[in-house]
Amino acid sequence: MSTQVAKAEGKLGILIPGLGAVATTMIAGVEAVKKGISAPIGALSQMGRIRLGKRTDNRYPLIKDFVPLANLEDIVFGGWDVYEDNVYEAAINAAVLDRSLLDQVKTELEAVKPMKAVFDTAYIKNLDGKHIKEAPTKWDLANLLIQDIENFKAANNVSRVVMVWCASTEKYIEPSAVHATIEAFEEGLKNNDPSIAPSMIYAYASIKAGVPFTNGAPNLTVDINALLDYSLQQGVAIAGKDFKTGQTLMKTILAPGLHARALGVRGWFSTNILGNRDGLVLDDPDNFKTKEVSKLSVLEEIFEPEVNPELYGDLYHKVRINYYPPHGDNKESWDNIDIFGWLGYPMQIKVNFLCRDSILAAPIVLDLALFMDLAQRAELSGIQEWLSFYLKSPQTAPGLPPMHDIFKQLIKMQNTLRHIMGEDLITHLGLDYYQDLVDAL
Ligand SMILES: NC(=O)c1ccc[n+]([C@@H]2O[C@H](COP(=O)([O-])OP(=O)(O)OC[C@H]3O[C@@H](n4cnc5c(N)ncnc54)[C@H](O)[C@@H]3O)[C@@H](O)[C@H]2O)c1
Repeated sequence: MSTQVAKAEGKLGILIPGLGAVATTMIAGVEAVKKGISAPIGALSQMGRIRLGKRTDNRYPLIKDFVPLANLEDIVFGGWDVYEDNVYEAAINAAVLDRSLLDQVKTELEAVKPMKAVFDTAYIKNLDGKHIKEAPTKWDLANLLIQDIENFKAANNVSRVVMVWCASTEKYIEPSAVHATIEAFEEGLKNNDPSIAPSMIYAYASIKAGVPFTNGAPNLTVDINALLDYSLQQGVAIAGKDFKTGQTLMKTILAPGLHARALGVRGWFSTNILGNRDGLVLDDPDNFKTKEVSKLSVLEEIFEPEVNPELYGDLYHKVRINYYPPHGDNKESWDNIDIFGWLGYPMQIKVNFLCRDSILAAPIVLDLALFMDLAQRAELSGIQEWLSFYLKSPQTAPGLPPMHDIFKQLIKMQNTLRHIMGEDLITHLGLDYYQDLVDAL
């Protein structure tokens, strides 16, 4: 398949709805890496290696040397926000990175000024920004976004663009008739259907403009049949949803281990406190519901209680998020896990993770942007399930259960990269090594 991957020639535009804590931490980080000030730790696209061939071949190239990814030097950033602050100002407000670091990339950050957002207070009540587009219909708003994309491309001379949603979490909605087909959806845009969220307008505009779209929040957004079908029609890659950071990252690392050893789990209580703007938005019950649904699905899939009723049939799973301003972006999470082992004897695991939300999320945004650009050049359209590795609530083809186990997700991702480049897939069976030994005797 390698012959089909077009080279990463020219500049890559990364367009981001929502220039808040996550987006500004990523942009400032990339600029700092470009200047040699910092290292892109946590970004597999920059620091990760991949094994090729047999264990004995000793081929472990950096992923970025194996697949043709855009070079950081060739990235141009842009985006939209309901607040007018440029990326330097927004990064100062987010208070994730030190002022001394931000000042070293100030010129680059000040140059990224948000375009006016498509916003609706019906979906997010706790924000009061006024930097918002006005138009009679949602259809007109989508066209304004497409115009923004075209203007950005021309102004920055970029050859390719990807879009990654890093805006606030919208209120919980379920798919309805307007989300079922692209015809109904386009009709809904023209009729200002209230079930079409702002994030869906961005996603529609992105797909229409031939730009791969990734959803980093738990909103429904592109996870509806209308936009899935449309992405296939348009030959555009889509992925979502909700960056896998913090507590859920730990969950999908720990749970597969307990499951692998056939240890039982009776209860998993997760609570956390955070005080950034994300926390403020999630303080509204309608918006929290979106996040809760995304976070709860993880353990069900990993433990499969219906297949393993003795071990996980009674599992009680609870997730809480509490808005606590003094902690800012430094989220603290506590997990109490009630497990049981041999003959049913109970044990407990306590996890207290003092994490930094945006520090964990920033490399994910960069990787998703670079891999979505790769997917598009490899002519992979529709859902990019191989990027589930980065997502809390991975989008899958209708009827297909998502995979949450981070180790299975990693194998899937690595094998997809090998497949794209025409390399042998690795099954980890390893029997051939032993056959070689026998043959050599
Ligand atoms: N940080 C993490 O670990 C993490 C993990 C998973 C998901 N997320 C999600 O990523 C998103 C961003 O998180 P954050 O911490 O940067 O939040 P943030 O509040 O700092 O930034 C979000 C930005 O989006 C803007 N915004 C809201 N609606 C918009 C719209 N319609 N168009 C354009 N801009 C809009 C807000 O004004 C704000 O500046 C949230 O949805 C969050 O739930 C974050």
